[in-house]
Amino acid sequence: MARNIVVTGAGSGIGAMCAQLVEDRGDTAIGLDLKNAEFEVDLSDRSAVDDVVRQVEEQYGQVDGVIANAGTQTNTPLDLKVNFFGARNTVHAFRRLLAQSENGRVAITASAASLQPTDPHLVKLLLDDQESEALEYGQSLADQGQMAGYANYSASKRAIATWVRRVAPTEEFAGAGIGINAVGPGVVATPMTTQLLSTQEGRDMAFGAMPAPYNGAQRPEDIADVLVFLVSGLNRSMTGQVIYVDGGFDAIGRGEDLWHAPKSMDQVDSR
Ligand SMILES: NC(=O)c1ccc[n+]([C@@H]2O[C@H](COP(=O)([O-])OP(=O)(O)OC[C@H]3O[C@@H](n4cnc5c(N)ncnc54)[C@H](O)[C@@H]3O)[C@@H](O)[C@H]2O)c1
Repeated sequence: MARNIVVTGAGSGIGAMCAQLVEDRGDTAIGLDLKNAEFEVDLSDRSAVDDVVRQVEEQYGQVDGVIANAGTQTNTPLDLKVNFFGARNTVHAFRRLLAQSENGRVAITASAASLQPTDPHLVKLLLDDQESEALEYGQSLADQGQMAGYANYSASKRAIATWVRRVAPTEEFAGAGIGINAVGPGVVATPMTTQLLSTQEGRDMAFGAMPAPYNGAQRPEDIADVLVFLVSGLNRSMTGQVIYVDGGFDAIGRGEDLWHAPKSMDQVDSR
């Protein structure tokens, strides 16, 4: 049966590709974006999110999947508003409809930036839902310049990836049959990176920070294919995962052993 899939950030880049791939599968894509989408909405505004959910319900009745992909990289608190609060509020607001679906699924576009050093205090403020404190602190980092301000972006992505793992096994999601996962792209050739990737200096900076030995910069479809699979009925058992689609950056950065304690049977408490 055809599924209705909400795609945020559907007006450009990865989101536009997701909408196209959803339609190619014979499902219906419901695009949400500031512009160039079925519903033009600012997802950083919580009441606008609630309004658009009502409009989607009125017009489509049922929602089977949400790809929460809209994002910014401004290195200012706007990144916190859109990438963390916007994505989380969107998922929360569609949760009731997703729970009514046979196979409710969520996929969030996080980032390989979630693997980079960031500001743990800012991540904690986000996860503790201290919105005004987080925005104020993020602004103080942005005021120190681009380098310090980048923590707004990296913390927004670390926090949303952490949130996915936190909520996935709970009654609210797993208990309601809703799978929720994230994808972490590395450097993707989209309008967000056009300027950066247009010069040798920019490319050196991007791939110096985020090496991609496997096929270099990703294409929007490399990310969208995984997001669209995650919200399909084919994904019956995967939840709480952050899947890095990054040309190898995670394997380089975190190394070969992700499986922390206990490392050997000797360390298992046998009592
Ligand atoms: N391009 C990359 O290298 C890269 C890498 C890692 C993660 N990402 C993430 O991928 C996602 C998609 O980015 P993209 O590369 O396709 O960029 P893009 O700029 O082409 O698309 C982002 C879309 O989000 C929309 N958007 C921004 N703020 C919004 C708001 N407040 N309300 C509604 N819509 C809003 C924009 O209008 C735009 O259409 C983002 O979450 C981004 O952080 C991108």
